Amino acid sequence: MKVSRINPVFPNHQNDSSAAGYQPLFKSFATDAIHVGSEPEQWNSRAVVPPISLSTTFKQHGPGKHAGFEYSRSGNPTRSCLERAVAALDGAQYCLALASGLAATLTITHLFKAGDGILCMNDVYGGTNRYFRKIAAEVGFDVSFADLTKLELLKAALKPNTKMVWIETPTNPTMKVVDIKGCADIVHEHNKDIIVVVDNTFMSAYFQRPLALGADICMHSATKYMNGHSDVVMGLISLNRDDIYERLKFLQNALGAVPSPFDCYMCNRGLKTLHVRMKQHFKNAMAVAQFLEADPRVDKVIFPGLPSHPQHELTKRQCTGCPGMITFYIKGKLEHASTFLSSLKLFALAESLGGYESLAEHPAIMTHASVSENERKELGISDTLIRLSVGLEDEEDIIADLDQALAAAVSISVDLNI
Ligand SMILES: Cc1ncc(COP(=O)(O)O)c(C=O)c1O
Repeated sequence: MKVSRINPVFPNHQNDSSAAGYQPLFKSFATDAIHVGSEPEQWNSRAVVPPISLSTTFKQHGPGKHAGFEYSRSGNPTRSCLERAVAALDGAQYCLALASGLAATLTITHLFKAGDGILCMNDVYGGTNRYFRKIAAEVGFDVSFADLTKLELLKAALKPNTKMVWIETPTNPTMKVVDIKGCADIVHEHNKDIIVVVDNTFMSAYFQRPLALGADICMHSATKYMNGHSDVVMGLISLNRDDIYERLKFLQNALGAVPSPFDCYMCNRGLKTLHVRMKQHFKNAMAVAQFLEADPRVDKVIFPGLPSHPQHELTKRQCTGCPGMITFYIKGKLEHASTFLSSLKLFALAESLGGYESLAEHPAIMTHASVSENERKELGISDTLIRLSVGLEDEEDIIADLDQALAAAVSISVDLNI
């Protein structure tokens, strides 16, 4: 089947993203990504690239008198370079690096105690859902879920014991967009001590600054866009509040889920090109979303950059653009989705997202298998739902691969009615 190429329309991020109705790009983002935390003057050698400091321990001048580092779990020079860079990119005063995104989630949750209420967006990464339902709830947290895209549901779901509201936006995998400012205002009006956390993994620091929108904590699975090269597992927590930072700094050391100096070096290296990568992810994803939306072999495309997305206007109000994450429903049944996925040649059929390479996956069988069948049904994570992480390859090659895999799916002997 021949599919006509669609002329991609996307905002020119080179100059001014606000021209297309998105928030303007964050000032000096690229300069900060490249320079903050990497100042050569901090080293006797004047190294332009921060060295990897593998030492687990640091010599003290006298007992308790050290030059900023004592033991590598509590603080490490390479980790400190990364944390300073990320803080700048998130518009934060502080950042803490953890061993994974889930280690960041766990460390944040340790701010609270059994009996405290955690209210979580109902559509979140499967591992976050599993952690809150199967671990946090088991040890006595009062965990509840609500569709936080509906602010009236948020209001109704807040309880006297609520201590944390966990937002993921856009959500994984159904790409719902939550109004961060709207949520933070309601929550803080209800009780200013409730901590609002935003999982910013999908947007990255380049497209969204939750702290500027009223959130107390911004977390990333840096395994994804922040590192961007699919070779590091890491979590990041950014924030401005001194009191929460002190507690989290204590927990980072006391729980000990810290990343290695080598991974910190790698992630910091990835950050240097975050702005370049995200622009291209946006451009490629926009072209792919338009291609899929116009294709009769596709039932529905969910991409916040498309005007058809229910929260497209909100996305433009709170973000500077959109990443390479696209979800779509292929026409047909599980067999069509499976044939499509196994026919892809350029896209790798693999979990994870946010790297330079294009990936595709089947959330119901792969990333969200730990979410119960009933819940998946409620959220729309059906057998025909496919999630793409559009990479940085040439746009026409990406689209050609999707086109041939759709053709393979259509060709199987199950009636499609198209
Ligand atoms: C949105 C989101 N948050 C958190 C995580 C967990 O991060 P990690 O795999 O680094 O532990 C993931 C992982 O896929 C994710 O997609």
